[in-house]
Amino acid sequence: GDNVLYLAHKHGIDLEGACEASLACSTCHVYVNSDHFDKLPEPEEREDDMLDMAPMLQENSRLGCQIV
Ligand code: FES
Repeated sequence: GDNVLYLAHKHGIDLEGACEASLACSTCHVYVNSDHFDKLPEPEEREDDMLDMAPMLQENSRLGCQIV
């Protein structure tokens, strides 16, 4: 689907996505611009759990494969 991970790859941006959007990794970790961040729906619990394991976690961290 057209999630951020997919779009990144489509545009030649080197973002990892080890589990292919099945919420079993945090390699698709991205920082979302704050203007856009506030407009995103809240992450689901499973995304939050995975985010907790992401290195360099920030307030505006999300998993790229979960942003549509
Ligand atoms: Fe694994 Fe996004 S690619 S959680």
